[in-house]
Amino acid sequence: MALQLGDEAPNFTAETTAGTIDFHDYLGDGWGVLFSHPKDFTPVCTTELGTVAKLKTEFDKRNTKVIAVSVDPLDSHNGWVPDINETQGTTVNFPIIADPDRKVSDLYGMIHPNASDTMTVRSVFIIGPDKKVKLMITYPASTGRNFQEILRVIDSLQLTAQYSVATPADWKDGEDVIIVPAVSDEDAKVKFPKGFNTVRPYLRVTPQPNR
Ligand code: BEZ
Repeated sequence: MALQLGDEAPNFTAETTAGTIDFHDYLGDGWGVLFSHPKDFTPVCTTELGTVAKLKTEFDKRNTKVIAVSVDPLDSHNGWVPDINETQGTTVNFPIIADPDRKVSDLYGMIHPNASDTMTVRSVFIIGPDKKVKLMITYPASTGRNFQEILRVIDSLQLTAQYSVATPADWKDGEDVIIVPAVSDEDAKVKFPKGFNTVRPYLRVTPQPNR
């Protein structure tokens, strides 16, 4: 069965541009982002990996390790990295998994044969410190991803893991959040001392609790 939210992120050992990695060991106690790209030496992928490299401090701030994967072999990844560095004005600072035998791609359902039976699609998995899958999104090969959105989701996941809140549409770190319906008004008064606005009994808005 396909991987679903809440499932344990399958562990694996793989060759990467940073040596052999045990995935769960690599993630350690923090958060993780595993993302696939279709093919080395392609334009959109080059911009994506450069963009992720430039965001390293943002991922670090969120205690999040990043790792990329495609079905290309290690010598291809190693040949491509200098191109990414030169053309994107950065240094690739995360491992890229070589998956020519499709071990990782198959574990995570990253090959969608009706889109392409030879390339991984643009999948993203966010994995929590409990090694459970918290988010899965899939983009087509022709659309480069918005990695600010990945950071935004990590902010939401980390906040909602700590407090009884959810985040509304287009929410960004620092903005008001929603008190989950399971919390009574009585409990909400204690849990959210900054107060809350009851727009509807099921829609209660409060300032971000850790700000
Ligand atoms: C790209 O990264 O530009 C790309 C890769 C595979 C198919 C289409 C575009």
